[in-house]
Amino acid sequence: MDTKILIIGACGQIGSELTLSLRSIYGNDNVIASDIREGNYELIQSGPFEILDAKNYEQIKECVEKHQITDVYLLAAMLSATGEKHPMIAWDLNMNSLFNILNLAKYKQIKKVFWPSSIAVFGSTTPRQNTPQFTVMEPATVYGITKQTGERWCEYYHKNYGVDVRSIRYPGIISWKTLPGGGTTDYAVEIFYEAIKNKSYKCFLSNDTALPMMYMDDAVKATIDIMRADKDDITIHSSYNLAAITFTPDEVAAEIKKHIPEFTISYEPDFRQKIADSWPQSIDDSKAREDWNWNHSFDLEKMTKVMLENLG
Ligand code: SER
Repeated sequence: MDTKILIIGACGQIGSELTLSLRSIYGNDNVIASDIREGNYELIQSGPFEILDAKNYEQIKECVEKHQITDVYLLAAMLSATGEKHPMIAWDLNMNSLFNILNLAKYKQIKKVFWPSSIAVFGSTTPRQNTPQFTVMEPATVYGITKQTGERWCEYYHKNYGVDVRSIRYPGIISWKTLPGGGTTDYAVEIFYEAIKNKSYKCFLSNDTALPMMYMDDAVKATIDIMRADKDDITIHSSYNLAAITFTPDEVAAEIKKHIPEFTISYEPDFRQKIADSWPQSIDDSKAREDWNWNHSFDLEKMTKVMLENLG
């Protein structure tokens, strides 16, 4: 059977770029984009689009049957900062959307699932440098708790029901096409918009807060690579550590200044500082590199250049 893809949460930061990449590989008509509401003109124009509530099992099942879907990429989620404001809504969305898709796979309605986890699964008792694949995980945010719980369920569905679910722990994702929403790492995108518009940026994290980050093209590549990997090469059925760059607000500001010398940054940490302080500063992703040949191609310098070129 040919691959037919459904992307849930296709209008978000990652979904909008992943959908277009998947369409260029599998053909526009074989990649169904869906979201709770319409967004992103390019996405809606370039192929099929469905309004779908990730929490509604019957609606998703109907869509899967209508389009004879084989693979689902579930990208709908409430991120860390918004999740702290709406804990129960975050839990409801992040967990029930995952159960809906895992159960469709359990009942053989679909063959393969991609579900993203996050660096938020780690907490303040986790080693923060070069965080290992297998380590202490005591997440302190609702978002992190949902991702950690989700990882356990993915592994459970794989072991007990043979579900082919693949997952990576995304770091902060930096991109210029679609804005991120409600995350702690969002500053690393906002800073570029503000640098171009106002030549200054007030950062909600402190100057020396190091966090793992990744440019969108690398994140999309990782997602497509893990889904195309040989089933036998996937040895981790919870979620893979994934890394590319680590930087502080100071460091990205210095890199921006190389292109915009008059750029200035100031700091006013808010509630998101506490979240960032509980997360790793750098990640050991050797398992992903070994198992399915993951490698990244964007460093801080290259990413900064591409961001400023595209937003400028
Ligand atoms: N970018 C996410 C957040 O900040 C982390 O996965 O919530």
